[in-house]
Amino acid sequence: MGQTVKAEALERFGVALLEAAGTPAAYAREVAANLVFGNLRGVDSHGIRLLLYYLDHIRHGLMLPAVGGEPLAEFGAICVYDAAYGLGAATSAACCAIANRLAAAHGVGVVTARRANHFGAAAFWARRMAEAGHIGIVFCNASTIVAPWQSKEPKFGTNPICMAVPGPYEDSFLLDMATTTVAANRIFKAFQNGEPEIPAGWAMDREGRPTTDTKAAYEGLVAPLGGYKGTGLALMVEILTSVLAGGAMGGEIGGIRFTEKPLSVSHFFLAIDVRRFLPAGEFEARMRRLVDEIRSATPGAGYDEVLVAGDPEIRIERDRRAHGIPFSTADLAALREAAEVWGVEPLQLDNA
Ligand SMILES: NC(=O)c1ccc[n+]([C@@H]2O[C@H](COP(=O)([O-])OP(=O)(O)OC[C@H]3O[C@@H](n4cnc5c(N)ncnc54)[C@H](O)[C@@H]3O)[C@@H](O)[C@H]2O)c1
Repeated sequence: MGQTVKAEALERFGVALLEAAGTPAAYAREVAANLVFGNLRGVDSHGIRLLLYYLDHIRHGLMLPAVGGEPLAEFGAICVYDAAYGLGAATSAACCAIANRLAAAHGVGVVTARRANHFGAAAFWARRMAEAGHIGIVFCNASTIVAPWQSKEPKFGTNPICMAVPGPYEDSFLLDMATTTVAANRIFKAFQNGEPEIPAGWAMDREGRPTTDTKAAYEGLVAPLGGYKGTGLALMVEILTSVLAGGAMGGEIGGIRFTEKPLSVSHFFLAIDVRRFLPAGEFEARMRRLVDEIRSATPGAGYDEVLVAGDPEIRIERDRRAHGIPFSTADLAALREAAEVWGVEPLQLDNA
């Protein structure tokens, strides 16, 4: 049976592990907050469990916990950033701060980052820009585990697309989606948790045949979202990340579960100042009208409501803030082991 953990306890635990691995306090807080954000919103595939892989990469010298990266060039509204293998959340915080500064000065700010590490859920970074009054658009490329449509050979990653808008966090459009049917971590997690089957449409086996067998999916390929359209979107993300950032491409990219080489992905952050387009408050008012209109659409057969992107996660977050974040026994055992290895206090469980 699993147990629940409070977000604050989880964040403290994450910070302690990161600091034990040589991470400065400010970077440790960004990474832990980013991962707990994933757990709080039900995106457990991008939650604290990822920290175990980060620690492995730190131990192998592939992630450099004390490195914050630096801008290589800044021109007008554009910045090219070298993440220099620092922790993904540490360098993404720096990139978002630059994008926000550039958008405040020019109406728009665009930052690309090369030699970057995993930055968890993209929504965390898009919200960082939305909180500054900007539309925040975030892309990243990822390990090559996705075959282009009509192929069985992996050529790119799950390359997520994310957009947040200014407005209340509790009631905003917040789209954060892999360009595969699901993020790869969902399949890995199902495998780690010993679930025999995954839903149809999530994955293909090694030969490119659709499969619901978790093991075959784990050893096979993540399915592109909506066939060739998903392949096109993934390629668009690849162009705006690795190509534009001058970063690692294709087989040059590592994997978070492997330690032969650095992950070396690329990130793209775009901040758009809505106040340069509309009088103050009008964007937010127009968004309100739009989402109300969408949510008021008549539900189709089998549904009793219509949602906008971000609604499912915020509901989970409200519940998990009130009742704690549930963890499987397997996840808790892995976190307990990490605490022993790094010599930190074990994770404080609810009712423990
Ligand atoms: N860092 C990386 O390398 C990387 C790579 C891929 C994915 N990811 C992350 O993985 C996470 C999960 O991605 P995913 O594609 O599995 O997410 P998902 O399929 O669960 O959700 C995708 C989007 O659809 C929206 N949505 C879900 N149900 C809805 C409904 N009924 N009506 C309207 N909208 C609805 C969600 O709010 C979300 O914005 C994301 O946070 C993403 O950033 C990260």
